[in-house]
Amino acid sequence: MGLKYIINSFKYIFLISTFVILSLPANSELSVEETIKGRKALFSKNYSTAKRVQALSSKGDFEKAKKLMLEMSENYKVLINYFPDNTKEGFKTEALPIIWENKDEFNALMTKSSNDMIKLASVIEDTESVDEVREVLTKMMWGNCKSCHSKFRAPH
Ligand code: HEC
Repeated sequence: MGLKYIINSFKYIFLISTFVILSLPANSELSVEETIKGRKALFSKNYSTAKRVQALSSKGDFEKAKKLMLEMSENYKVLINYFPDNTKEGFKTEALPIIWENKDEFNALMTKSSNDMIKLASVIEDTESVDEVREVLTKMMWGNCKSCHSKFRAPH
């Protein structure tokens, strides 16, 4: 085994290590496409879950409804991280630039929406009529979609 061979082996190991180290952070972050498509998918999922929450609560099936409410609450927390600076445009996003100009307000709305779903889960059982169910859902669930969309999502 010559000296040249050993030196070359070290060069090779060095190159591979550098490549691995440099590519690690890139792999742990989502691409712009994955981020925009990912948040759209999560919002769509929350929409279908919200409709199920409405149906179950109207039937008085509060146990199942409460589980879904907490699921929605968690999704909102995840969604906060799906609006990095490099995802303002592309991939048919309906997110408006005003999100990044008022990031604190946007994030606060997302957090409020998440907290309201937890509150909703604790008060839904106290409702005494279908009308009252509709009222709390409008106030604590649908109202938050509307107040965010009217400012931060493009008309669709
Ligand atoms: C704090 C802000 C905020 C809240 C709260 C919010 N949304 Fe949205 N929603 C957005 C934004 C911003 C978009 C645009 C995302 C994009 O296109 O990149 C969006 C997009 C959507 C979409 C379209 C997804 C797609 O495939 O393009 C649906 C459906 C949706 N929201 C439903 C809801 C429902 C239902 C609720 C309430 C239960 C809700 N959202 C609550 C901000 C919000």
